[in-house]
Amino acid sequence: MTTAGLRPLMDMFMIKTNKFFLSAVILVVAALGQPAYGAGRIYNGSAWRDTDGNAINAHGGGMYYENGYYYWFGENRRGMRSYGVSVYRSEDLMNWESLGLALTPTGDKKNTLQDIAEGRTIERPKVIKCEKTGKYVMWAHWEDGNDYSKARVMIAQADKVEGPYSLVRTLRPNGAESRDQTVFVDSDGTGYHFSSSEDNMTMHLAVLSDDYLIPTENWTRIFAGKQYEAPAIMKINGTYIGFFSGCTGWRPNPGHVATTRNLMGEWNDLGNPCVDANAETTYTSQPTYALKVEGYDYAYMYMGDRWNSSNVETSTYVWLPVMLRTGVPFLRWFDSWNPSMFETLDAIRRAESISDGNTYVLLSRMADRIVSLNDNKLCLLDDDDARMLNFVFEATGESDTYKLRRDGGDDYLTASSSGVSLQPGDDTVSQKWVLERQSDNFYIVSSPKDGKILSVRDASMANGAELELIPRTGASKARFGVYFDSRRFDYPENSPWGERNSSGVENVLNERSSMPVISYENGKLIVRVEESASRRPIAVTLYDLGGRVVAVDSVMAVDGTAVLEYPSCRSGMYIVKVVDNGQPVSMKIAVSK
Ligand code: DGJ
Repeated sequence: MTTAGLRPLMDMFMIKTNKFFLSAVILVVAALGQPAYGAGRIYNGSAWRDTDGNAINAHGGGMYYENGYYYWFGENRRGMRSYGVSVYRSEDLMNWESLGLALTPTGDKKNTLQDIAEGRTIERPKVIKCEKTGKYVMWAHWEDGNDYSKARVMIAQADKVEGPYSLVRTLRPNGAESRDQTVFVDSDGTGYHFSSSEDNMTMHLAVLSDDYLIPTENWTRIFAGKQYEAPAIMKINGTYIGFFSGCTGWRPNPGHVATTRNLMGEWNDLGNPCVDANAETTYTSQPTYALKVEGYDYAYMYMGDRWNSSNVETSTYVWLPVMLRTGVPFLRWFDSWNPSMFETLDAIRRAESISDGNTYVLLSRMADRIVSLNDNKLCLLDDDDARMLNFVFEATGESDTYKLRRDGGDDYLTASSSGVSLQPGDDTVSQKWVLERQSDNFYIVSSPKDGKILSVRDASMANGAELELIPRTGASKARFGVYFDSRRFDYPENSPWGERNSSGVENVLNERSSMPVISYENGKLIVRVEESASRRPIAVTLYDLGGRVVAVDSVMAVDGTAVLEYPSCRSGMYIVKVVDNGQPVSMKIAVSK
């Protein structure tokens, strides 16, 4: 059942906030098979305990969902040593019951490499079910326990989800190295194996046999030369989304999110999905799995490991909701969160178009955060029903021009010289807004008073970032989406994940160029960036050809451009390195005086 079917209940939830109604709703929702998340929280980066009070030992893990339970499989470690695969189960993603070892080291080491004896290294286990054979199949990275040079996969099989799993074989897919790996089952039942190969330089992607026990010869290379590992794959309608890391051993690095409509074809690399502080280390985590959270239409969870390289057993976990509403998958940071957050994440939907008298929220394209009222200030906030602003759009009769009245109040979104506020209704131009739809289905919102556009102070994406009005320039990325609360309204929707919108037009995924472009023009170093860079300062380092640092700067891009001047540089060749959003780009420039 989707949230749409629960709308009447949710309405009740919105209106009645006393404890009795709250627990009544939770009970009814639980009875309907909807997840009930109660009061617990997922605490990122801290030691998690199972329901017996023991530390959860399930690293590089993956999930499998069946009959109301999530099964979490992961590397069982004793210090640095690998010791089989643990399995836990949970109904709510927060309380985990240990079911022991799904795969136990057995037998003796054989020099054929076909064993799971104690001392072998088994990493990144993932379990899928084969509907054809009725068996559960586990794929994992297998090493002989000495180093990472064997680069094989282990395939094991079981009759029950929790195991015991028995070894089928270890192998190198189509003869190629296979280290970090995952398996993914498409909606048509076809299985796929992703693995870092060719010295981890290039990822290999192979179609599995019908019984999921062997990779077929139908395989391809993706992200050639990019050195990606830690694959985690999910699919929304016809779009596949992959999370990957760079390749720096146990140390975290900037992650990547990529999308494609053709798994074996070209992937569109959207850069680092992280938008909050510590993005450059993927919030000190490395991806391991992307989980479809049951009970919602668009609810997925990123699962990552926060490795302790000196004692892998004590590594912790980082799980975050994947922000999907803008069409670019983002990861925001939460110290802790409850999966009921998916209620609003899933309920706030993009409207097909603006209709006079309808009620909408404005969602920032750059942050997937909603325009809200906090301490009397208009700002972007994480989803919060009490503070998000629902605006009734009142047509003015002029083209694409509306007044935005706060739902339930008689105050309107009003422009001042540089800011916005809510003011009692009047007939001035300050309360009119022109909404120009862009090709990505987001809007530039401008004030006809002086043509300034609605933006966010310092182009910030942060929780609490204040709204402001800025002069319009060609490079501006300040756009807002017109969304609505589907728990309250049943408007035509234009999901960024629909292959076609309701007018039959193919949806174009929002694209985000991740790499800054560096140029040297008229004595000035110009760094042009897409929206990603304007979220935080970008780091620029200038080296001479001997590799000596000549200058180090940190600049904010304004409207997509950062300009730096180095008057003290002599004429000559320099190397400039720019790090934006965790992504380094360097080039040689000739400075002439
Ligand atoms: C990074 C991988 O993602 C981990 O699974 C593990 O293999 C470490 N490298 C070992 O250095």
